[in-house]
Amino acid sequence: MGKEEEDAWVVMKTARAPSNIAVIKYWGKRDEKLILPINSSISVTLDPEHLSATTTVAASPAFERDRLWLNGKEVSVEGERYRNCLREMRARATDVVIESSGKVITKEVWSTLHIHIASENNFPTAAGLASSAAGFACLVYSLAQLMNVKEKYEGELTAIARLGSGSACRSLYGGFVKWNMGQEADGKDSIATQLAEQSHWEDLVIIIAVVSSRQKETSSTSGMQESVKTSPLLKYRAEEMVPKRIGQMEKAIKSMDFAEFARITCADSNQFHATCLDTSPPIFYLNDSSRRLIGLVERWNRHAGEPQVAYTFDAGPNAVMFAKNKEVAVQLLKRLLYQFPPSAEADLSRYDYLGHS
Ligand code: DP6
Repeated sequence: MGKEEEDAWVVMKTARAPSNIAVIKYWGKRDEKLILPINSSISVTLDPEHLSATTTVAASPAFERDRLWLNGKEVSVEGERYRNCLREMRARATDVVIESSGKVITKEVWSTLHIHIASENNFPTAAGLASSAAGFACLVYSLAQLMNVKEKYEGELTAIARLGSGSACRSLYGGFVKWNMGQEADGKDSIATQLAEQSHWEDLVIIIAVVSSRQKETSSTSGMQESVKTSPLLKYRAEEMVPKRIGQMEKAIKSMDFAEFARITCADSNQFHATCLDTSPPIFYLNDSSRRLIGLVERWNRHAGEPQVAYTFDAGPNAVMFAKNKEVAVQLLKRLLYQFPPSAEADLSRYDYLGHS
């Protein structure tokens, strides 16, 4: 066989990973390189139909270097986070047989092969809707499929996704997920575990209000660095508040106690934004619409006598709301339409359920 024929093969895999939304927030690292957090966090994985990344990874001897396309545009793959994920995945590659030819790609060959990656989001990038979480989770998962990587311990792949973006480790599981901060210096125990399947709490409905699809001004990565350096409240939060809340939240999820779930979710979102305000210079992620939404939910819950809806905001003004059940979700949509009437040209089909967890 000539060199050209030898180089003619390409292997490829495509995968999809959903985004996740934290109900106990991760904010602050104790190790920037390994992306080790200062506190544990808990999230709900969203429905991939609505918020997800789809990634295709391909390998071929004809590829001369690693390359990456995000939403159709080529970007550098030289960043440390991509390099770390690719290195860790290559180190775990095992034999793969190409079905059509019977040719075996051995571990040794994998270490010499270059990878092409194409990833697409089905929602606005960097608008505070955890696009990096879905993206890195999907990259690691699709590479695991391509390179036939088997976990040596449960959660090993989540630790690699974590090297891409902290919150990505929680997107490898569906349902309710906890990221244990871990204790080890090498981050081996800083992994995600599933607390409950999505089907565990079928009643819960998630509604996302995209207040703005603009790119956020302060990225999570730099925002949390500033908070770790300057916010005394963040230190108190990580050491005193979060450990208690993690236990309470686990219990609320297990027993499907919506009132408790809502209380902790809202309190934790508000405390996270308080630490942003406590950062010097202060970081503002919420805008007037976000604050109006908070007011609406708070008044409703007080009036009802017990929580019907919970809200949470990441590093941006968009709200993620949890309704107690379908009936409440319908009421919530009505109230949102009343409070934030769409313009005449708006596409009303976009005002729809985003499904449950
Ligand atoms: C507010 O995971 O995006 O969404 O680890 O630096 O990539 P890096 O940060 P990232 O931070 C997410 C912060 C958050 C809260 C959360 O998802 O827990």
